[in-house]
Amino acid sequence: SAAPLIDPFARPITYLRVSVTDRCDFRCVYCMAEHMQFLPKAELLTLEELDRLCTAFISLGVRKLRITGGEPLVRRGIMGFFRGMSRHLGAGLDELTLTTNGSQLARYAAELADCGVRRVNVSLDTLDADKFAAITRWGRLPQVLEGIRAATAAGLKVKINAVALKGVNDGELFDLVRWCGEEGHDLTFIEVMPMGDLGAEDRLDQYWPLSDLRARLAERFTLIDLAERTGGPARYLRLAETGQKIGLITPLTHNFCESCNRVRVTCTGELFMCLGQEDMKDLRAPLRASAADAPLHEAIRAAIARKPKGHDFDYSRQGVGGQMSRHMSHTGG
Ligand code: GTP
Ligand code: 5AD
Ligand code: SF4
Repeated sequence: SAAPLIDPFARPITYLRVSVTDRCDFRCVYCMAEHMQFLPKAELLTLEELDRLCTAFISLGVRKLRITGGEPLVRRGIMGFFRGMSRHLGAGLDELTLTTNGSQLARYAAELADCGVRRVNVSLDTLDADKFAAITRWGRLPQVLEGIRAATAAGLKVKINAVALKGVNDGELFDLVRWCGEEGHDLTFIEVMPMGDLGAEDRLDQYWPLSDLRARLAERFTLIDLAERTGGPARYLRLAETGQKIGLITPLTHNFCESCNRVRVTCTGELFMCLGQEDMKDLRAPLRASAADAPLHEAIRAAIARKPKGHDFDYSRQGVGGQMSRHMSHTGG
């Protein structure tokens, strides 16, 4: 089959993240503005186009596909898309998965499992219902907890993603760790990245470096650094006392770009070679221009050939770069 995708820094691109909608039923403060102008339907790739696009990437060597948004499970007809993608599992694709806010999991968990999904990443920053409502502006914590229970009941492995927010969930560190331990969920903390129109200034107020979180963990637990890298940006450590594995995603304090294996596509078909760079290549035009795959493959290869070395996030360079005007919901994390 076709030659695999290798970028200019000799990194094989085997992981595709696809945002299937810019919409979400929540409005997390670090992800969206309160009043978002969502895209008109015609701008979105159809589910058929999404299928064609993902299939092209798989034929070019992508082995892991993560569906994101916005909230992927609010896209109408999305289960048909998952059903379609499941045909690639074991036939090029190793993993089909999604990152979700969990609000619709109670409804869809069983069907996702039936489509071959084995793990889901659920964004959950707090176990305090009032704080949850404040962060998500719209969200109801019990609905998400019910979704997580449904996922577990359906046999899905759940990883909790918590964005570390100073003055918001820093007082809850040990509660989150304990709860994930009790429920059997992996837990990963993410440093808040300067994206969206709030600007880095506001984001900086909430920036809680994970070096500090780590030091706090070390006061109560014996930390064992794990050498394993799962091909993602997370570094892992184990709490000796509980055996739990904790992931840390530290774009600001530790650069993981040298082992980057991924690219992401927005719901309008823009291929971003890096979350923290503005450069992108439009794939919707070649998708719509021709039913043939060759021009699409060529466009993908041309984009991979200019994948940058790393991101430019930097809180010390406010206004001079170092932040992205794009909302996180646009590229899906
Ligand atoms: P696993 O398969 O569980 O390793 O998932 P993942 O970490 O690849 O995906 P997930 O959606 O859970 O990602 C967690 C968060 O990590 C994302 O939403 C981003 O905030 C961040 N992240 C993932 N990939 C990148 C990346 O390439 N660059 C940067 N700066 N952040 C990333
Ligand atoms: N910085 C870090 N993580 C973010 N997420 C959304 N916006 C940001 C941001 N500005 C996280 C969500 C979710 C994942 C897809 O990205 O909480 O877990
Ligand atoms: Fe929605 Fe996730 Fe963005 Fe929150 S972080 S607004 S749940 S897409």
